[in-house]
Amino acid sequence: MTTTQTQQNPVRETRSEKQRALPPIAELRDVRLRFGEKTVLDGVSLAAYPQERLVIIGQSGMGKTTILRLLLGILAPTQGSVFFKQHEISKMSPRELQQIRTRIGMVYQDAALLSSSSVRENLALPLQELTDKSPAEIDKIVDEKLALVELTGEDDTMPFELSGGMRKRVGLARALVMEPELILFDEPTQGLDPVISAVIDELVINLTERTKVTSIIVTHLMDSAFRVATRMAMLHRGRIVEQGTPEQMRGSKNPVLVQFLNGSTEGPMLERSKYHMLSPAD
Ligand SMILES: Nc1ncnc2c1ncn2[C@@H]1O[C@H](COP(=O)(O)OP(=O)(O)OP(=O)(O)O)[C@@H](O)[C@H]1O
Ligand SMILES: [Mg+2]
Repeated sequence: MTTTQTQQNPVRETRSEKQRALPPIAELRDVRLRFGEKTVLDGVSLAAYPQERLVIIGQSGMGKTTILRLLLGILAPTQGSVFFKQHEISKMSPRELQQIRTRIGMVYQDAALLSSSSVRENLALPLQELTDKSPAEIDKIVDEKLALVELTGEDDTMPFELSGGMRKRVGLARALVMEPELILFDEPTQGLDPVISAVIDELVINLTERTKVTSIIVTHLMDSAFRVATRMAMLHRGRIVEQGTPEQMRGSKNPVLVQFLNGSTEGPMLERSKYHMLSPAD
């Protein structure tokens, strides 16, 4: 922990400390990831502890979505290891991975709904494919999750008929149907107006509190990040440059974080780097 300690929210702090005494639900250990010549992650160590809402912040293209894809086992690290509880994701067979993925929910950046299937069909699909539940049981779960995201009665609606906010909520309900132990959110409020963003953030907070699920939330929207986080980590040029509670992040003197939080063009953030954005010729 490198952040400056402040004591504005001792209740959240105590809870966070208690959670961190338990083994992590998800963990990256010294993960390096290269795509060809491009180094995206250059020694990332990061853990999400039980019932945390760990928010990963960072500029576009820094590798936030990539971290979620590593946790789902869609990508494998070039070096280092990725864990879900005691299971090393990066060493699993495709069959084991499929099993583990049923315990991890993912809310995609663009909701990723099947366009020719209704809201109900979109939610029912994981249950039909991955469980032996009866149609009546599946209907009951779908109704329950639609109620949780306040979309009761929208089950016959087709994705193209949904607003952006509604799509995000359907994506969220679909991530919940398997009752996961970990939910990964990729930009849950991107593209939404500030009011609907706040509604979605509240929903994320309420759902995660109620179901006691652990979550990792990726965003580059700071209002959202500070609203939902119990802990935050900033990814910059392949590394976690700062992590801590929202209060600690606000009080940090790290120049990269200060510049990011102020949205300023002055600072180290726009300096040229061997990571990202540059082709080998640069
Ligand atoms: N499959 C891939 N092959 C090659 N490069 C990739 C691949 N996936 C991601 N990248 C590169 O890795 C970097 C990180 O991408 P990523 O999508 O994780 O960024 P991000 O932080 O989620 O950005 P944004 O905020 O814009 O969503 C980018 O430079 C991207 O071009
Ligand atoms: Mg992304």
